[in-house]
Amino acid sequence: MAAPPSPTALVRAFSRELALAGGLLSPDYLDSGLSLGEARCLYELGQGAGLTLSELAGRLGLDLGYVSRVVTRMGEAGLAEKRPGRDDRRARRVALTKAGRARLAALSKRVDERLGEWLASKPPGGVAELTRGLGSFLEARPGGDEARATLRAPRPGDLGQIIARHGQLYVEEFGYPAYFESYVVEAFAQLLRGFTPPGDRIFVAERGGRFAGSVAIKALAAGAAQLRFLLVEPEARGTGLGRRLVRAAVDHARSCGARRVVLDTASDLAAARALYAAQGFRQTKATPGAPWLPPGVQSERWVLRLAPGPRG
Ligand SMILES: CC(C)(COP(=O)(O)OP(=O)(O)OC[C@H]1O[C@@H](n2cnc3c(N)ncnc32)[C@H](O)[C@@H]1OP(=O)(O)O)[C@@H](O)C(=O)NCCC(=O)NCCS
Repeated sequence: MAAPPSPTALVRAFSRELALAGGLLSPDYLDSGLSLGEARCLYELGQGAGLTLSELAGRLGLDLGYVSRVVTRMGEAGLAEKRPGRDDRRARRVALTKAGRARLAALSKRVDERLGEWLASKPPGGVAELTRGLGSFLEARPGGDEARATLRAPRPGDLGQIIARHGQLYVEEFGYPAYFESYVVEAFAQLLRGFTPPGDRIFVAERGGRFAGSVAIKALAAGAAQLRFLLVEPEARGTGLGRRLVRAAVDHARSCGARRVVLDTASDLAAARALYAAQGFRQTKATPGAPWLPPGVQSERWVLRLAPGPRG
């Protein structure tokens, strides 16, 4: 009796079939006008709010020079753009344009349709067995289920991580002065000094076993609570995690009896401002300048009312 095929032989046979079924071998991937390499870049760039070229190359397991050429072509085609850091050119990130996001959505639909047709042409029992096996294989990967973040209480090491990532990210991404890190250390120490649960709480977001973001909420006097230290790692952005963190903090404040949530942000943090506005926060004050802000950036106070005040 012949020996059963080895796991590598099975995987090779399956990947040949999948390559044909998924149209991976055509230079014009699924008639998209893109090569497979370009389509993979498009997909990775569509998963967050922007990646540096080396992050993108790392995710794809591809050579930096190749990825750089692909991104240049995508830029010429209006699908991606480089967003320079304010002061630091090294922090330039590549992100999809509106046209890039539309192209990705159309391509994803095409891939779903094509693979759906392929699966429909196979015996249903075999498809059920395949999908069961694939499901448990993917779940068992270290850091499996990459897309889903969990919110949890901080563990040893997390507080330092929150401080470190705030200190780095604002400097690299938004061109904040290096002094910003000292401001973060001071502000975080202040939060911890008077830390009083249950009103005060820190949420850590974890995705695929890695730190993905944070938010803190602090109970203040007179029915107020302050939301602080909201951050989502660039590779976890655009998936609703920022909104979940803000809602978790606000829900916690509400459950502890707060009637309004206040926060301080800055006039250059466009994504955060849009997120706060979408969650019902309103800007109530703008104060020009602070030593930890870049020149020309204003500090802003935003407020969310959780219940009508005495005059409605
Ligand atoms: C602000 C931040 C937390 C958003 O995180 P995120 O996980 O990408 O946000 P979500 O995917 O949950 O998006 C929720 C909403 O935020 C807004 N938003 C998010 N990214 C945006 C962007 N790049 N431009 C405009 N609005 C954006 C939108 O209203 C979005 O809702 P929509 O998807 O229905 O349009 C993240 O960009 C971040 O960490 N920024 C740097 C740190 C920072 O600014 N912190 C706030 C300090 S006060």
